[in-house]
Amino acid sequence: MTSDTPAIPDEPGPDPHTRTGTRIDADTGTGTGGGRGISRKTLLRAAVAAGAAVPLLATGSIALARDAARSAAGRPLPPTPSCDDGDDPTPDQMEGPYFRPNSPPRTDLVTPGTAGTRLTVSGYVFGRDCAPLAGVLLDFWQADDAGAYDMAGYTLRGHQFTDATGAFTLRTIVPGLYPGRTRHIHVKAQAPGEPVLTTQLYFPGEPRNSTDALFDPALLMNVRGAGGGREGSFDFVLDVDGDPAPTDPPTGPPNGTWATGRSYAAGDAVTYGGGSYRCLQAHTSMAGWEPPNVPALWRRES
Ligand SMILES: [Fe+2]
Repeated sequence: MTSDTPAIPDEPGPDPHTRTGTRIDADTGTGTGGGRGISRKTLLRAAVAAGAAVPLLATGSIALARDAARSAAGRPLPPTPSCDDGDDPTPDQMEGPYFRPNSPPRTDLVTPGTAGTRLTVSGYVFGRDCAPLAGVLLDFWQADDAGAYDMAGYTLRGHQFTDATGAFTLRTIVPGLYPGRTRHIHVKAQAPGEPVLTTQLYFPGEPRNSTDALFDPALLMNVRGAGGGREGSFDFVLDVDGDPAPTDPPTGPPNGTWATGRSYAAGDAVTYGGGSYRCLQAHTSMAGWEPPNVPALWRRES
């Protein structure tokens, strides 16, 4: 572990982002943008999340299925930040000094020795048109319960890919605080063949949210207690065209020459560009994820 008391604060400087879309109240996590009706894309988004039914809360806001389920207990819920015709892409934030490349593929960062409050973060990744994006690389890293980043290993670091519905789930802990920053989780998001979005996710109700110059309420998760731990949700909107994710990829033998739209499993062998590669984790191939480009997915063997 590395002492996380940098000579200069991690990710210093003023918030470089100007966001004119929906604002989320820093203390409550509730939207304050107002004035926006229920758009076609919001309906699409909710329908994607719900599978079929589109729940409508008493406030008139559409919520994701996971929120609607909890509303059944009678507890009022804040609206989930929506992705609609007027939404901006998720704002970027500085990487900071603690990113390490080549994190392991995993959705659960908690090990038996991990201290801290358990936290599950889930959500979806959409393109600008609110079509869900499959196969988006999400690389998370964060401080441990004591506010320290592991710079020698990969504790509390891991990457994953959104599934065919654009969904992701991360199991981790609530990150600790360290000097100069409010509570946050770092993440890089990259749709196949698209630029990387580097940003950070924040927690509502944190006293330091009002003093951290980097804090952006557009990056607040919805967070709620859940059986001694916490559950957070956040939906990314990437600045990409958002072509609908392939829902019915072609089938066929996975081995042979690498091709797009194939379902590859760990251990599959392919050739590409004169080289041989071994699949490291199951995924559906897409343009931009050619084996030489994604060492997290393919290991060159010859
Ligand atoms: Fe940080």
